[in-house]
Amino acid sequence: MQFPHLFSSVTINGMTLKNRAVMPPMGTGYGNPDSTVSDRLVAYLSRRAQGGTGLIITEVCAVDARGKGFPNEIGIWSDAFIPGLARIPEALHLFGAKAALQLHHAGRETFEDAIGTIPEAPSAIPSVILGQPCEAMSLERITQLVEAFASAAGRAKEAGFDAVELHGAHGYLLNQFLSPFSNQRDDKYGGSDESRARFVLEIIAAVRKKVGNDFPVWIRVSADELVRGGYDLSFMQKFAPMMVSAGVDAIHCSVGVYSTPGGLSIASMDTEPGFNLFRARALKDVVHVPVIGVGRINNPELADQAIARGDADLISFGRQHLTDPDFINKVRDGALDDIRWCTACNQGCIERLSFEMKSATCSFNPECGGEHKGQAPKAKPSKRVWVIGAGPAGLSAAMAASARGHKVKVFEKEEKPGGQLLSASQPPHKSAFKDWLIWSLRQLKKSSTPVHCQNLISKEEIKQHMPEAVILACGAYPVTLPIPGLDSEKVVDARDVLTGKVELKSPAVVLGAGYVGMETADYLLSKGIPVTVLEMQAFPPVGKLTAHGYWLHKRIKSAGGRLIFGAQVTCIEAGDVRYRQGDTERMENAAMIVTAMGAKSDNSLEDVLKELSIPYIIVGDAKSPRRVLEAIHEGHRAGGEI
Ligand SMILES: Cc1cc2nc3c(=O)[nH]c(=O)nc-3n(C[C@H](O)[C@H](O)[C@H](O)COP(=O)(O)O)c2cc1C
Ligand code: SF4
Repeated sequence: MQFPHLFSSVTINGMTLKNRAVMPPMGTGYGNPDSTVSDRLVAYLSRRAQGGTGLIITEVCAVDARGKGFPNEIGIWSDAFIPGLARIPEALHLFGAKAALQLHHAGRETFEDAIGTIPEAPSAIPSVILGQPCEAMSLERITQLVEAFASAAGRAKEAGFDAVELHGAHGYLLNQFLSPFSNQRDDKYGGSDESRARFVLEIIAAVRKKVGNDFPVWIRVSADELVRGGYDLSFMQKFAPMMVSAGVDAIHCSVGVYSTPGGLSIASMDTEPGFNLFRARALKDVVHVPVIGVGRINNPELADQAIARGDADLISFGRQHLTDPDFINKVRDGALDDIRWCTACNQGCIERLSFEMKSATCSFNPECGGEHKGQAPKAKPSKRVWVIGAGPAGLSAAMAASARGHKVKVFEKEEKPGGQLLSASQPPHKSAFKDWLIWSLRQLKKSSTPVHCQNLISKEEIKQHMPEAVILACGAYPVTLPIPGLDSEKVVDARDVLTGKVELKSPAVVLGAGYVGMETADYLLSKGIPVTVLEMQAFPPVGKLTAHGYWLHKRIKSAGGRLIFGAQVTCIEAGDVRYRQGDTERMENAAMIVTAMGAKSDNSLEDVLKELSIPYIIVGDAKSPRRVLEAIHEGHRAGGEI
């Protein structure tokens, strides 16, 4: 066996796991509006259990209606929830996985809209990120919530769960009590380290009393808050043995809170894989119970070695489970080439959930969250389908259509397939974007679906071959603004820069500070080229609230890149970029001027399809230029419908 440590069994207070791979809790938004468990949630979790994971910890489950972090968070604050929740362990046990329920109270990290009242917290200090006012909890309320956690654990046991995890991490209520940053009480629950720890220790003791000694209970903590005024790893090293004495059987070692710079609780592609393992190790050094390591780990080798070295006893693979539910079985079977890799882009999962208020999915796995719908039906009759364009939308469409039994051919005008993924995978930390391309081409090869490159499809060819259905995925071409001098030979397109089609020159001016412009600047700076980015808008189009946005700004700044906002470019003259900022005329000298001003859909073949009455669907950037998520999901839908 290739990864013997990862695939060895482990026992936590009598619960024996078939391997040491954990799916950590991940909020999905799949619960029903009344906080009960939905078919969608059961199907999604069950699909992950089918993929071979030893332990699945459900997403947050509120112990009190006032503790929900988002409107349809599942709940366990009354016995009425038990039958619905019982469906989860029942489904997971069918595949040999153990099921733990994560017990949660969001404290101040929620909205009035989600809970219908003002949030409660140790002190009336609003969340740094949400800014939502909150109320300090009374002593009576503290006692009630200690009891709420205990009752919830009792219900979880009754529902058939194998264990419960207390959510003590990520800046939620338990974490808020531990932290001098959010707990400024002057009673016995605030002040010294011991007093701030009291609420959590009382909960652990009450839960233990409720479920008995032989039921596994553990806590998830942020080992270091990584915020000014918060607690650090040395506090957690002191606190961890106290939690074990109070009754926990394991510790799940996460990191960070909502306002931790760079979003390290759900670290983006910009953070090194396994960056948090040293903290798991630091906790293992002070406790004798198993420690679960987590944080940007999807490399099985890294996981196996971490267990072998004793950094952690089990490893959580979070987002990787969203991208590929069969990840663990593929690792076990040595089928690493068939793994669809998580890129840590965060767009389809946590950013959709947190910033777009939509249910989570995965940019690269369009089936994530749709498991309850089952597979698309086989095509009857099987048609000759042409997919025109081999970017993410086209490749995704081709996979879905060929899985249904259509006879699919893919055509690409460029030398290589991949479309925008070819340039998008070039900036620093983004090489994983190419992994999806490699994976999708492998899947198409397995299904004998040809991808013809350097094959620009003309109207005549369509007329001659008359495909029975067409998916138009021709992408988009870059557009520029009508700026005098933009036809200078110094002016190049960002995509050509990133794919190495043009020679790099120094210094560079990038026009546009959207993601393409920012990532191109990051790329050029990593090659040692000084960069100035000029953006028309007064505010950065790429904010610092997302983890990737934060790190992009930080890297560009620390490499000496200049970002100039509110810059209206007026002309390019003898290699100088002239622009107006307010009433002031300014100028930047450049050896290379890179345009990153947006794109326009390419739909030139639509007319002929209409004329010939050939059924067609337009997908991805060809429909309207958007992100890889929309391209892959739309392509998949089209392949399922055509
Ligand atoms: C969409 C999403 C929702 C999450 N929800 C929770 C949650 O409900 N409870 C929790 O403790 N952590 C939550 N997390 C954090 C994950 O459990 C995990 O710690 C994090 O994704 C880092 O692991 P990874 O790098 O393997 O993905 C969530 C992460 C994501 C991506
Ligand atoms: S959306 Fe991005 S970060 Fe989230 S699971 Fe998918 S690939 Fe990973």
